[in-house]
Amino acid sequence: MPQRVLTTESGAPVADNQNSASAGAGGPLLLQDQHLLEKLARFNRERIPERVVHARGSGAYGYFEVTDDVTGFTHADFLSEVGRRTEVFLRFSTVADSLGGADAVRDPRGFAVKFYTAEGNYDLVGNNTPVFFIKDPLKFPDFIHSQKRDPFTGKQEPDNVWDFWAHAPEATHQVTWLMGDRGIPASYRHMNGYGSHTYQWTNAQGEAFFVKYHFKTNQGIRCLSGEQAAELAGKDPNSHQTDLLQAIERGVNPSWTLHVQIMPAADAATYRFNPFDLTKVWPHADYPLQRVGRLVLDRNPDNVFAEVEQAAFSPNNFVPGIGPSPDKMLQGRLFAYADAHRYRLGVNHTQLAVNAPKATTVDNYGRDGLMATNAYGRDRKNYEPNSYDGPTETGRPLSAPLAVSGHTGTHEAPAHTKDDDFFQAGELYRLMSEEEKERLVANIAGGLSQVSREDVVEKNLAHFHAADADYGKRVEEAVRALRED
Ligand code: HEM
Repeated sequence: MPQRVLTTESGAPVADNQNSASAGAGGPLLLQDQHLLEKLARFNRERIPERVVHARGSGAYGYFEVTDDVTGFTHADFLSEVGRRTEVFLRFSTVADSLGGADAVRDPRGFAVKFYTAEGNYDLVGNNTPVFFIKDPLKFPDFIHSQKRDPFTGKQEPDNVWDFWAHAPEATHQVTWLMGDRGIPASYRHMNGYGSHTYQWTNAQGEAFFVKYHFKTNQGIRCLSGEQAAELAGKDPNSHQTDLLQAIERGVNPSWTLHVQIMPAADAATYRFNPFDLTKVWPHADYPLQRVGRLVLDRNPDNVFAEVEQAAFSPNNFVPGIGPSPDKMLQGRLFAYADAHRYRLGVNHTQLAVNAPKATTVDNYGRDGLMATNAYGRDRKNYEPNSYDGPTETGRPLSAPLAVSGHTGTHEAPAHTKDDDFFQAGELYRLMSEEEKERLVANIAGGLSQVSREDVVEKNLAHFHAADADYGKRVEEAVRALRED
């Protein structure tokens, strides 16, 4: 094979890649050294803004295969027949730390799936937890500020973390989850994924259902203790990335079984929990898991920056048969993601290979903008309607309409009969074995005891007391013991 020639960005051959051009051997450098200028300038521009949350992540390609008939509930094409396979890209992530953090930390994990369906890309942007800390998107920036690095100290501060939770009793359920055994997954392969929100499915007859997604890991759940995680984070900050990359390179392809909980739309108004409250689960006894299919990851990306850092998931990328519920958090997210992508990656991020549809083509009148690579032919009009056989609307809504009532204004989410901020947190605690409870209490006490203000400690303790008397008593004793040390 002939030796490949190194070129400049414009394709000209490079004569010398070891020495800059200078005025004489020892003299200053020359402005005419295009290769040097271009190389330094490009290097300066290699980084783009990291994601404001979920900055650290790992991704892989694979497929989703339908194993069970769900056509009674949705007419989504990619779920329309048993055996149907759809290519997917999945990005896992941690949430709070910056790109330079470590993987083995106590933090939720992102579980974002892009299904490249024949009817467009469907993004299901979930976590490894079935619930979340808050139920109104207005609180999200405050919540995240409290969990990320403090603007003065430049590091995560227990004072801020627990101060936010002191003012967010609705977080007690998720805090219980996070501080428990599953709070530090051993790897991305050994955890479940959840859509977390309630979504809407619509069948071919136009009937609507509310749905929650559960991806159960087929590798088994494995978690780390706080001590194990601290050691691993120091030894290999990229432990999750290493594990996922190497498993797939070895051909040990991780997989998950997708189940859904399905609620007929008519049940929603009278269910004992508000089904659109992201801080609540639907007990399986009320809505059992129904199997849908299998998700397999079998290919690592060739280039982490191009395919993982530039991956853009948006909860408002729906396909026919699937749509949003009125969950206020989800509604907020329908705006936030594509807006973040336009800032982070630019308006044409959908043209990047990892984000572009793979099983269908884009055909619309969106044009131009920075870095537009879609060259439309000379006969393609950029307005609609037109007389030139351009693409036209279908007239078929993607999902069923949602019924609404009441007046505009700022409202708290409606409370159903069994809704409060603590009941489900208590249920989760009571489900735990004695050893799990001990570890949970120790983890909470380890964090809460570091808080400098007594009133913040008191407010948090009140939440655990409200969830379960034994839970509150044990956390309080453990915190007091550590604070007296
Ligand atoms: C109102 C609440 C929320 C807001 C405003 C919000 C906003 C954001 C933003 C701006 C990003 C960065 C996007 C990017 O730059 O590419 C992001 C990433 C992410 N969020 Fe949220 N988020 C919210 C709640 C949630 C919830 C409840 C979940 C899970 C159920 C979640 C899961 C994720 C995941 C997995 C990512 C990373 C996606 C990726 O891998 O690229 N977020 N979020």
